[in-house]
Amino acid sequence: MTDRPRHRLATRRLAEAVDERVGGARFVREALGKVFPDHFSFMLGEVALYCFVVLVVTGTFLCFFFEPSQRTVTYDGSYAPLQGQQVSAAYDSAVRLSWDVRAGLLVRQVHHWAALVFLAAIVVHLARIFFTGAFRKPRDLNWIVGVTLLVAAIGNGFAGYSLADDLLSGTGLRIMFSIVESVPFVGDTAAFWIFGGEYPADDIIGRLFVVHILVLPALIAALIGVHLALVVRQKHTQFPGPGRTEENVVGTHLWPAYAAKSISLLLAVVGVLLLLGGLVQINPIWIYGPYDPAAVTTAAQPDWYMGWLEGALRLFPAWELRAFGHTVPNQFFPAVLMPGLTFALLYAWPFLERRATGDHEVHHLLDSPRDRPVRTAIGATALTFYGVLFVAGSQDVLAVELGVSVNGLTWVLRVLVLVLPIVVGLLVHRWCRDLARGDAAEAEAEAELAIDERAPRRVSASR
Ligand code: HEM
Repeated sequence: MTDRPRHRLATRRLAEAVDERVGGARFVREALGKVFPDHFSFMLGEVALYCFVVLVVTGTFLCFFFEPSQRTVTYDGSYAPLQGQQVSAAYDSAVRLSWDVRAGLLVRQVHHWAALVFLAAIVVHLARIFFTGAFRKPRDLNWIVGVTLLVAAIGNGFAGYSLADDLLSGTGLRIMFSIVESVPFVGDTAAFWIFGGEYPADDIIGRLFVVHILVLPALIAALIGVHLALVVRQKHTQFPGPGRTEENVVGTHLWPAYAAKSISLLLAVVGVLLLLGGLVQINPIWIYGPYDPAAVTTAAQPDWYMGWLEGALRLFPAWELRAFGHTVPNQFFPAVLMPGLTFALLYAWPFLERRATGDHEVHHLLDSPRDRPVRTAIGATALTFYGVLFVAGSQDVLAVELGVSVNGLTWVLRVLVLVLPIVVGLLVHRWCRDLARGDAAEAEAEAELAIDERAPRRVSASR
């Protein structure tokens, strides 16, 4: 007997033994036969998924060495400029991780890069879902799970980079303290309760640590489970094309073709993150120094996914509201109200659109963005608005680079944040209309050309 049949026999026997005890052969057969659409944009969610895997693995390594405590210690590690300085144990252990733990710096940097790419992948994935109408019934439910994942991922990113207790992250925490404080009626109590006293309180790092390594990752893992179970249950959407209907899914089976594609993507994500972590410096906390409430770093910027909030804080005029003996502080509007409205609108979008269009149908075929000019224009308007806010989050650095005054640039950005989104929205609306009016026959011919002859054999499954 050759090796192969013997090997096959062993696998088969193992599979039968497992099935006899726990069952599930039918489930596995069905799962392996699941059909995945071939379009690349269906892999964006997987990039987010694999970043999360990298975050969990690298984060576990970091936990072995990080000490989430604000007690004061004297630094005596390898980084000479800090030697003899009184720093917090959290900062001390994070610098030691970077300088004295074998592969510590690599793992720290891969972890940080994975967080940045994780959020970028989520946002691009959200954009594809939005612009193609994949959120319509029955996937409105999964859209809600997705928005919650986005909120949890942003929260966990912020909690994570606040742990090191360096000058940059401490400045971020200080801003967060005053944002929480700005909430009318409950703000003071909430800020004291969360931070464990008046800023800088002694409990916040320990608490953020529990949130960062346990509460939010568990929530994210559970939500990813629900999210993917819904994708399997409801099956994928697909772009319209030859042979594609509301009743079938055209693409490749999970086993072996799609699995090979997906495992390659996992390896590529891990490879890119290792390269970034190994070659591109990120968050060099030993250069920033330990947190000191009386100091602030120059050119201080948060991680990119917090840039829109930072920008909103910088652009919002120095207004505050006084009524009935109460003051609503300035930061409440850009840092509580604006993000609150943003996420409320995101959650509500599928239902708002359904109400506006009166379309209560179930949809499995996706829209081309050009065929939905109003939705596409609203999406472009929103992206431009948050894009300008993001740029405003580094207006000080930009002013130095451009050799202009910070105040002048702030005013330009204040005008741009109001005007540019409308201009872009109108242009995109018009562009979509022009494209949609284009030659339908040409579009059809293009769709046929787009069929990749080299793709694995296409299969179609009914829903
Ligand atoms: C941790 C974050 C996330 C992960 C790991 C994730 C993962 C995935 C994966 C692997 C798929 C199937 C492949 C694909 O269509 O791309 C998917 C589909 C989907 N996701 Fe996400 N996702 C995340 C966040 C989000 C967000 C923020 C939204 C929207 C607000 C969202 C909405 C959806 C919807 C509606 C589908 C079904 C799409 C279809 O069938 O065409 N997801 N997700």
